[in-house]
Amino acid sequence: MAELKLLFSLTFLILARVSGANSFSSSSSANFTSMFAFGDSYIDTGNFVIMATPVIPVWIDKPPYGMTFFGRPTGRTSDGRVTIDFFAEEFGLPFLPASLSNSSDIAQGVNFAVGGATAIDVGFFERNGLVPFKLLNNSLDVQLGWFEELRSSLCNNATEGSGGCFGKSLFIVGEFGVNDYAFIFSANKTEAEVRSYVPKVVRTIASAVERLINNNGAAYVVVPGNPPIGCSPAILTLRQSPNAADYDRIGCLRDVNDVVRYHNALLRRAVVGLRAKHPHATIIFADFYTPIRRILENPDQFGVVSDVLKACCGTGGDYNWNASAVCGMPGVAACRDPSAYVSWDGVHFTEAVNQYVAEGWLQGPYADPPILRATIKH
Ligand SMILES: *[C@@H]1O[C@H](CO)[C@@H](O)[C@H](O)[C@H]1NC(C)=O
Ligand SMILES: *[C@@H]1O[C@H](CO)[C@@H](O)[C@H](O)[C@H]1NC(C)=O
Ligand SMILES: *[C@@H]1O[C@H](CO)[C@@H](O)[C@H](O)[C@H]1NC(C)=O
Ligand SMILES: *[C@@H]1O[C@H](CO)[C@@H](O)[C@H](O)[C@H]1NC(C)=O
Ligand SMILES: *[C@@H]1O[C@H](CO)[C@@H](O)[C@H](O)[C@H]1NC(C)=O
Ligand SMILES: *[C@@H]1O[C@H](CO)[C@@H](O)[C@H](O)[C@H]1NC(C)=O
Repeated sequence: MAELKLLFSLTFLILARVSGANSFSSSSSANFTSMFAFGDSYIDTGNFVIMATPVIPVWIDKPPYGMTFFGRPTGRTSDGRVTIDFFAEEFGLPFLPASLSNSSDIAQGVNFAVGGATAIDVGFFERNGLVPFKLLNNSLDVQLGWFEELRSSLCNNATEGSGGCFGKSLFIVGEFGVNDYAFIFSANKTEAEVRSYVPKVVRTIASAVERLINNNGAAYVVVPGNPPIGCSPAILTLRQSPNAADYDRIGCLRDVNDVVRYHNALLRRAVVGLRAKHPHATIIFADFYTPIRRILENPDQFGVVSDVLKACCGTGGDYNWNASAVCGMPGVAACRDPSAYVSWDGVHFTEAVNQYVAEGWLQGPYADPPILRATIKH
């Protein structure tokens, strides 16, 4: 990924200058004083390992997870940093501790995201027979409950300023939806049936954003859409089809990505509606689909030298992914250079991709408005 790396280093130089300048000028809004994140494995920084370890076998806490950046597994599902880690670096904040780790150091933010989390509450999937097993109780409303429980320790009269406790906090709500749709697809539902759940998922995300704004004084909220999971090695393996018409021109599954695009369109529309209702808040839609497609469609430009649809860490099959031998299991190796791959473990992205996405959300063009252009209005 030579060119991508070069692009990254250039971006880093520019960012270093901007954040250096921040301390004595007021040219940027990149002075969020804290960050609170809700989501699933794309941004989890340790909650899934804590929640799942007593219940089910966990592999993401084993090497080679973390091989590129932390040098050890951290509970992140990547070889290194995830998108919100790059936000933290940009704002000069610490990497967010996982909420379930009981860190005492939460004044500058906490991460409530948990791998496997759904937007819709887990009881819905269980009651409707959509999953043949018990889910971890980690959906969006549960994560909001965790935040609200911690609120009093984050927010007291001493910290309460004119803009409220969270007036200079950045809230990240998502991505959500990927797990909801994955569970429903695995129950052998058709694309049309899966689509019928999209409005409910989007309504759930939108009402979470409103709960943060109305009940908790959130002023800056980033709402990421879904990535093209129909291009992920795991989904491509699990839903492999003999019918060429099921695939688009780069080899991704059309039906899965159609649902993703429908979700993203409805979510974007919901964000526009929320802005009209809450003019004092800045609500940012972060496009997770286009940056991934752009890399998959132009691998040479991004230095992706692998087959773009193969996982870096995995084994066997057409996509280097096998449900019985996943990354982290004994004998399952990572590729030599994760930055030459899009998919890290068949589901999640490599650090290089996470960085590209994060930069595109901070500076544009993949967020509306770019996070660094959102102005502090207080
Ligand atoms: C944050 O940035 C805004 C906009 O530039 C500026 O008005 C404000 O004073 C800054 N706040 C802090 C705490 O640096
Ligand atoms: C965090 O605190 C709760 C409540 O005291 C406890 O049940 C839990 O085991 C703690 N978790 C960790 C990871 O220490
Ligand atoms: C999940 O946790 C929430 C909040 O603690 C609770 O209200 C809900 O009943 C739980 N759901 C399930 C399915 O256990
Ligand atoms: C916080 O301020 C309110 C109103 O100013 C006051 O009634 C309350 O006692 C204060 N709480 C604490 C914990 O100091
Ligand atoms: C879905 O369909 C496949 C293939 O027909 C079958 O093997 C699998 O058991 C089905 N799964 C469920 C949850 O019904
Ligand atoms: C997947 O891995 C299992 C366990 O190692 C192995 O038995 C199986 O043959 C593999 N399947 C494929 C398609 O490679």
